[in-house]
Amino acid sequence: MSPFPRSLLVVGSGGREHALVRALLASPAAPRVVCAPGNAGIAAEVPCFPIAADDVPGLVALVQREHIAFVVVGPEVPLSLGLADRLRALGVPTYGPGADGARLEASKIFTKEILLKHRIPTAPAAFFSEIKPALAYMRTRSIPIVVKADGLAAGKGVIVAQSIAEADAAVREMLAGDKFGSAGRQLLIEDCLFGEETSILVVVSGRDYVILPTSQDHKRIGDGDTGPNTGGMGTYSPAEVVTPGLLARIENEIVRPSVNAIADEGIAFCGTLFVGIMLTPTGPSVIEYNTRFGDPETQVVLPRLTTDLLTLLWAAALGQLSSVGPLAVKSDYAVCVVIAARGYPDAYPKGDVITLPPASSLPPSTFIYHAGTVLNSAGQLVTNGGRVLGVTALAPTLRAAADRAYAACDQVQCPTKYFRRDIGARQLNRR
Ligand code: AMP
Ligand code: GLY
Repeated sequence: MSPFPRSLLVVGSGGREHALVRALLASPAAPRVVCAPGNAGIAAEVPCFPIAADDVPGLVALVQREHIAFVVVGPEVPLSLGLADRLRALGVPTYGPGADGARLEASKIFTKEILLKHRIPTAPAAFFSEIKPALAYMRTRSIPIVVKADGLAAGKGVIVAQSIAEADAAVREMLAGDKFGSAGRQLLIEDCLFGEETSILVVVSGRDYVILPTSQDHKRIGDGDTGPNTGGMGTYSPAEVVTPGLLARIENEIVRPSVNAIADEGIAFCGTLFVGIMLTPTGPSVIEYNTRFGDPETQVVLPRLTTDLLTLLWAAALGQLSSVGPLAVKSDYAVCVVIAARGYPDAYPKGDVITLPPASSLPPSTFIYHAGTVLNSAGQLVTNGGRVLGVTALAPTLRAAADRAYAACDQVQCPTKYFRRDIGARQLNRR
């Protein structure tokens, strides 16, 4: 493989990017790592540049000015704006798909068409831009029924309607109102799938791929999976519901066909294909693709890797993924508990002071990833987003990992901190 890059840029500002920065810094190749725009926790470890993740010209200029040799893109928005295309055109190896690959996340209709055309298991669906035919179609299906805005809606464009009235309202709101902007101009109506969800993250380079350790996210804001959907309130890895036999089935029926379908569609995909899967009684079924690492899945997946992350992502960017041997993964369990600002995912306050425990008082193998944090003008650490911190712990059992993560969460002081108390409970209760 080509010599490792001496300096690399991570784009983004969340807990996912903090986990990426830490894992890349730990590489034996010891690269110089910088981040844009980063957050207070990332800035404590590497230089951060105040360029927004969606400022494509600004990021391109930064890469040239700082002589960056490799770029790892965290969030979906810069990918869909073509950041990776611009960088690759300048000869800068980049981990993350071009705008064509990012459409797999940015357009649910585009993805559904590919899934159906390539006979990859997914719920039946139909597409609409007019209210009347959408309402008529729904009456030919059963309740619950799922209504999805076509475009990027920050996790808020999906309604799992429990009645026809709720489904009608969702259709009218998306197609007539402007709540979803251009993301809502077309929608999908999709049959509801039942089962447990799992996140399968796959490092993809053309037709080559490496499946990362399994994980499960907790998307609802409240304990017991209640309340509105969020970006993700906590994760654990591995997801034992995905037995080795089931993982083989997911690889054969979903991952390999998806990677090949994307290549067959003429997309030269390099980056993470994150497959959201429902484990239905009749088998695994694709809910969605994302074209980036998951947040907070990354915060439990990367700490379990023994394989050097830089080796993996660099090989993918160079089209040499097949030269990387099988992944080495720790047998430890990982739990990540997200600390949010109370009020999230609706309106929440910013600027509340956070006091973190000193590293020496944290339980073993426990680390705090920053997400929505910033230093105020007085130099104090304050909240600056809905998801504020991600507390990850590793331990030989899931129970011990959760206990460690929660012990650390309890040590974090912040007047508006909120977190779920039951991350990992589903798997713990299954035993
Ligand atoms: P998405 O934005 O496509 O990830 O959807 C957000 C969430 O809505 C998913 O994580 C699921 O919990 C739920 N969801 C989406 N599609 C379906 C479906 N066909 N059946 C049941 N739940 C779904
Ligand atoms: N945790 C779900 C996501 O990253 O989309």
